[in-house]
Amino acid sequence: MTLRGAKPAGIDDEGRAALAVREMFDSIAPRYDLLNHLLSSNVDRLWWWRAARRFKDVLADPDAAILDVCCGTGDMTMALLRRRPSGARPILAIDFARAMLSRGARKFGARGAVAVEADALHLPLPTASLDLIATAFGFRNLANYEAGLREFHRALKPGGQLGILEFSTPSGFIGKIYSFYFLRVLPAVGRMICGKEGPYNYLPNSVGNFPRPAEMLELMRAAGYEECSWQPYTFGIAGLYTATRGAVA
Ligand SMILES: C[S@@+](CC[C@H](N)C(=O)[O-])C[C@H]1O[C@@H](n2cnc3c(N)ncnc32)[C@H](O)[C@@H]1O
Repeated sequence: MTLRGAKPAGIDDEGRAALAVREMFDSIAPRYDLLNHLLSSNVDRLWWWRAARRFKDVLADPDAAILDVCCGTGDMTMALLRRRPSGARPILAIDFARAMLSRGARKFGARGAVAVEADALHLPLPTASLDLIATAFGFRNLANYEAGLREFHRALKPGGQLGILEFSTPSGFIGKIYSFYFLRVLPAVGRMICGKEGPYNYLPNSVGNFPRPAEMLELMRAAGYEECSWQPYTFGIAGLYTATRGAVA
């Protein structure tokens, strides 16, 4: 069976892929923030901020039901929270790696978000209950992309919005420089700081394995989304996929 989802080295079934991803994030959680900011020269902060700005209208509605899924250590959640009015309904922040989530909860717990340990492919939420699902650098790690899109579609209200912030592969000259950094420098620095071989080899592999924007947009349309688009960030190193769940269920 061919997996359309994360493919940690040597694994070819969805259950084992999800387990390997969860264990990997639990193992790197203590160094995750440090490495993230170092390896992206803090550009990641700008990406979270831009993604949150894209949803400023729904975030400004105090009653809007908002989910940050694959929230990890909570930086996307924090960017979303900055645009919430005081007294707003808490944001739900879901992740299945306890060590990542507990670090996130320390950041956002007192600021208006609630941490829930759960699998993105089986959200513990009623159908048609959310106004916005945002996810940053997590979607690529799901064991089945189509299943993830379907599950998010189920949980969104008609007219609800989806935002998926993900890495991409820039083309041209920038692409060549970036590939060298991403395939050579980043795994070496990651290995040095986190003391493990696997996770920072997995990162470039997982980006290489992820659908290109045109293909991802096709997957989104096939899962029933409307107004699907992709906005590249920083020469296309990352980008934001956006879509809405159509008004008809
Ligand atoms: C690269 S981190 C991103 C964390 C955070 N959103 C950020 O922008 O820094 C990916 C996160 O996705 C989570 N994740 C991957 N697959 C998941 C799944 N099926 N269900 C819940 N969380 C998942 C991992 O545990 C990890 O914390």
